[in-house]
Amino acid sequence: MHTQVGIVGAGPAGLLLGQMLHLKGIDSVIIENRRRDYVIERVRAGVLEQGTVDLMTELGLGARLRREGLAHQGLFLSFAGARHRINLAELTGGKVITVYGQNELVKDLLDGRAASGRPLYFEVEHVAIHGFESQRSKITFQNNGNEHQIECDFIAGCDGFHGVCRPSIPEEAIQTYEREYPFAWLGILAEAAPSSEELVYTCHKRGFALFSMRSPKITRLYFQVPQEEDIANWSDDAIWDEMLTRMTTLDGWKPNRGPIIQKGITPLRSFVAEPMRFGRLFLAGDAAHIVPPTGAKGLNLAANDVMVLARGLTEYYTRGTMRLLDAYSAVCLRRVWKAQRFSWWMTQTLHRFPGDTEFDYRRQLADLDYITGSRAAMTSLAENYVGLPLDAPLT
Ligand code: FAD
Ligand code: DHB
Repeated sequence: MHTQVGIVGAGPAGLLLGQMLHLKGIDSVIIENRRRDYVIERVRAGVLEQGTVDLMTELGLGARLRREGLAHQGLFLSFAGARHRINLAELTGGKVITVYGQNELVKDLLDGRAASGRPLYFEVEHVAIHGFESQRSKITFQNNGNEHQIECDFIAGCDGFHGVCRPSIPEEAIQTYEREYPFAWLGILAEAAPSSEELVYTCHKRGFALFSMRSPKITRLYFQVPQEEDIANWSDDAIWDEMLTRMTTLDGWKPNRGPIIQKGITPLRSFVAEPMRFGRLFLAGDAAHIVPPTGAKGLNLAANDVMVLARGLTEYYTRGTMRLLDAYSAVCLRRVWKAQRFSWWMTQTLHRFPGDTEFDYRRQLADLDYITGSRAAMTSLAENYVGLPLDAPLT
């Protein structure tokens, strides 16, 4: 096979990139090592920034998102038994966030890919990338027992944190920066009508908890557990008891209880690989960086990376210049580090760390009291949460 851009990974980054390139008349082949159903059903992110929603609209794939997505004008920070609303829209000149499951977004993108008629291979094995340090990039893989080879001008490494692209870069050519957190999130989907129209981020003495939703009938909840926690240790009743202990406020607000239809544990990590490019290989999304989920930034950063990459590739194919591709890594990393900073800040503001003392808890409550009482502090949180503007125009 020959194509212009070989894309490894059919998560949000790979699928968005494929669609952006398609609309510019640029050919791509996408390969994905999981089954189609697995990719669609994987429960993950839920919060989309305005820029991500606008991108789906520009790609002609935003109709269902506009219909079913839940636009939120604000969110709550809850501590010491009370919820405090932060009016995101008012503080940011009208910007909102949209709650729409990542799996729904991926479904829409897969429909878009199918309609484009361009190739996407699922369940590929033994993926390897070659020649990207020169101009003879090549991806090899197996599919249904057959050997395949894609010759391409560029490789987009959109294969997530555990993919093969980043580890294929010579160690001395890439610098990584990392922080692990001593806790994880236990997350559930419950068949219960959301009891709040907006998200509630809770700092409780027993640890962080988060109230979110997926639809008018499905509630999405998380709470902080120790890093090595095993989901087998948590019966559904024990999960509800802990959720309700942490989230119930003095005015009696609490999530509605219902059957748990999905549960899992996610570790928290901050990670950045620099630069995000080696020769003709460009890393995008979780392949290049991971943020802890507290700031709801991971999926949106992936979307931002591929917007910058698509712009660079379009300029290359229309004008024959590498100018924007050469700037790719620096342009992305500026925004990535700001999102790292914000995600770290939200995480340490709202979570309890092992070894924290009563002093630390009091300081944390004072921090939250300050944030929810100062317009300047709320504005800072709001403008980061809804998404900072792009550092560079896209056209
Ligand atoms: P991925 O979605 O990981 O996609 C990579 C793809 O590559 C996968 O489909 C994988 O199967 C495939 N792949 C891997 N290796 C290979 C290979 N060798 N060959 C071929 N294919 C390969 N982000 C937010 O913005 N907001 C949130 O609210 C939020 N909440 C989250 C909650 C949870 C519980 C989790 C786990 C994550 C959350 N995130 C959130 C992060 C978000 O889900 C990720 O940042 C996002 O999925 C990144 O997209 P991606 O396309 O870069 O990577
Ligand atoms: C959701 C996940 C997040 O990480 C977050 O910060 C907010 C909401 C969610 O899955 O709905």
